[in-house]
Amino acid sequence: MFKDKKILLGITGSIAAYKAILLTRLLIKEGAEVKVIITKAASDFVSPLTLSTLSKNPVLQDLSSNSEWVNHVQLGRWADVFIIAPLSCNTLAKMAYGLCDNLLMATYLSATCPIVVAPAMDEDMWKHPSTQKNIETIESYQNKILSVNNGELASGLFGEGRMAEPEQIVDYLYHYFQDTTELVGKKVLITAGPTYEAIDPVRFIGNHSSGKMGFALAEEMAMKGATVTLVTGPTKEKISIDTIKRIDVVSASDMYNTCLEFASDSDILIMSAAVADYTPITVATNKIKKKEGSWEVALTKTKDILYSIGQQKKNNQFLVGFALETNNEIEHAKQKLINKNADCIVLNSLNDANAGFGHQTNKITLLDKSGNITAFDLKSKKEVAKDIVSFIISKLNG
Ligand code: CTP
Repeated sequence: MFKDKKILLGITGSIAAYKAILLTRLLIKEGAEVKVIITKAASDFVSPLTLSTLSKNPVLQDLSSNSEWVNHVQLGRWADVFIIAPLSCNTLAKMAYGLCDNLLMATYLSATCPIVVAPAMDEDMWKHPSTQKNIETIESYQNKILSVNNGELASGLFGEGRMAEPEQIVDYLYHYFQDTTELVGKKVLITAGPTYEAIDPVRFIGNHSSGKMGFALAEEMAMKGATVTLVTGPTKEKISIDTIKRIDVVSASDMYNTCLEFASDSDILIMSAAVADYTPITVATNKIKKKEGSWEVALTKTKDILYSIGQQKKNNQFLVGFALETNNEIEHAKQKLINKNADCIVLNSLNDANAGFGHQTNKITLLDKSGNITAFDLKSKKEVAKDIVSFIISKLNG
């Protein structure tokens, strides 16, 4: 993924420095050349020996080494990107004010390559007005700030301030190094995840869709330069590209209304959500108490978003639907392509092991209006997203 890429990794003094070890390992595994600069405070958290062994390069800490000046100017020119992860509150403040008291800061101030930072700190420190002001300041200097995660912090408290996970940083860099021009100017609408249909204030009808496939598609589209709106049902998935407009919805009806609002203005529409086909006719205001005997919930059909968009589709719009089938898969998918007036159907078969709902991997067959049927191998959902997006691009290009 990062063959021939030169990555300069700056590590500052935060407990999250331990994650920089995994980050180094992942970058090297993906073929990058990595040089590491650590601050004195960072070396209290992680050993330079571990980092030099993993990066296969000496770890740099001081402005001079063995009476020789370390050429910090050259480091910033050597790198394709300088990533500072974790970025401590202290180094953030130095970046905002241009202090130059160590090798990392000298390299930062003289770097000509793009700079990406992954802040890590306690929630209260993160939310402090001075921290937020410093973040705004360094952002205005064209540094890229990766979002902090919400979760358990070193203090034992839960909240915002966790450093982006090494995998998220690798993902970001992967997007960063991609050719982002193919879909520039295209607006893409994607649905993802399940929908929850309320029965009463505490119960709902849902399904096991994780949202992974839709999120991977949104990221792949954004990576190619598209302007992406992602309408998602309840999911734990997170978006690592902040240009994606994420709209959270709960029910099929919410998803329908939101999609219809954006549909006519979209060039590519991908309906990957597992939308409930039925919803309770009435939603009880109070929690329904259990009674003797069985209980029947009267359901009514939801509006089919893919079908509705298919009916109003313009010639220059490309509509993709998903089909999850258990038998006569190709025949059913062909029917769906026609009935819903889609340009392409992504077929998942429940007969394929490790594919579809809840899995990290997927195995798809693509059917298009010209009658082409293309089967793909079992792949990670990110790889599958790439196949689908490449397929769409090839169709758009004629
Ligand atoms: N879909 C939708 N709105 C709905 C239901 C489904 O947009 N209310 C979309 C899904 O996002 C997916 C495709 O339609 O792209 C799935 O088609 P569907 O006919 O719902 O498939 P199944 O639910 O599997 O239906 P069937 O039981 O007929 O196979």
